[in-house]
Amino acid sequence: MREALAEQEEINAASVYFKVVTQRAEIPQNSLVIPRYSALPNYKELEKDIKILGSRLINSHSEHAYVADLKNWYYDLEDLTPKTWFRLHEVDPAEAPFVLKGATNSKKHSWNTHMFAESKEDAGRVYSRLSQDGYIGYQDIYVRKFVELNTYDTGIQGIPITEEYRFFVLDGKVIGKGFYWSEHVEWLRSEKSIDPDVNSVPQDFIDEVIKRVAPKIRFFVVDVARTKSGEWIVIELNDGQMSGLSEVNAHVLYGNMRDDLCSKSERREALRELVRITEEYGGYRDEFDFLGGSLNKLLNEVDSKVRQLASKWGPFASTHEIESVLREEVAEFTAEVRKKDKSRSNLKSELFDVIICAARAYAELDRGFPLSDLKGESE
Ligand SMILES: Nc1ncnc2c1ncn2[C@@H]1O[C@H](COP(=O)(O)OP(=O)(O)O)[C@@H](O)[C@H]1O
Ligand SMILES: [Mg+2]
Repeated sequence: MREALAEQEEINAASVYFKVVTQRAEIPQNSLVIPRYSALPNYKELEKDIKILGSRLINSHSEHAYVADLKNWYYDLEDLTPKTWFRLHEVDPAEAPFVLKGATNSKKHSWNTHMFAESKEDAGRVYSRLSQDGYIGYQDIYVRKFVELNTYDTGIQGIPITEEYRFFVLDGKVIGKGFYWSEHVEWLRSEKSIDPDVNSVPQDFIDEVIKRVAPKIRFFVVDVARTKSGEWIVIELNDGQMSGLSEVNAHVLYGNMRDDLCSKSERREALRELVRITEEYGGYRDEFDFLGGSLNKLLNEVDSKVRQLASKWGPFASTHEIESVLREEVAEFTAEVRKKDKSRSNLKSELFDVIICAARAYAELDRGFPLSDLKGESE
């Protein structure tokens, strides 16, 4: 977390759910690192440093590069976002007005002089101002069709305060969402009786964006807006690591993030342990023939219970839930085996094997393979 850029409130909230450090050198080995506001200016250098420290970043450099340039994600969302020209001379004057911005950032707070352009000639003037700007100048400059948005107010320098919302997405799941213009929200509420509601964004729309973008990057932000005519469009994507909170609640964001990341890493830990146990008991494999049909039955039971849990808790049911389902199933199985064959002396190892089959099945389920594909293998 870069202290200079993060609000104390956000640092406090993040510290409830994660270990927060302010120096790279303090990062413990084998950590998953979320460099809030601290990945730039040199992402590649950071990626190397983190690797040397024995840890890894939540977004790789190539994932970051994908969202950091509008040109990279534009074609994935072309039908959902304003038309964009990547070279000034290609701009069609008939499509005016326009907005201009750098590949990553804009000068939206100087809207009248450094962003909005009434005509193509005007765009030329805005373009040269941006290219002389110290902040934007090193980025490629792009021209987008200006789309009239549902606008609540006009801020200083002519910036439209619009109905716009920010969604934080991690591993394809929304982990935080809120109104975009946090500096204006109090004023809108008190003076204009406008209370923007992030839940007005249709789920289908967000789902569609996530479906296209999530395969490209683990942790990102999508900003969406309602047009004057009532449609929803994507304004831009950004790296989740350096995107401000807007009106997203920090506790919700970091709490969801921890739940999702930990349930997965905990589960991975548990699977690693189970694999270790398999290896230990691997020598008994030949003796498991007798399990045959009942092993299949057990796996079926586990399968249906996991699916029930997944629909109740989402795909990241906690490790504890999974463990308790396994224990219950294994207890029933033990009783059944005992009834059939009282002489089984190495029941413990047999049970381990069953657990391992189930655990492997979970791992496969995690990767999107159905359990049934594995049953042949485990018999
Ligand atoms: N094509 C567009 N039409 C109308 N308004 C736009 C358009 N693109 C951006 N805006 C407005 O300008 C603001 C800043 O643009 P954005 O691309 O998000 O730049 P930044 O990266 O600086 O946030 C947006 O939040 C939105 O309100
Ligand atoms: Mg923006």
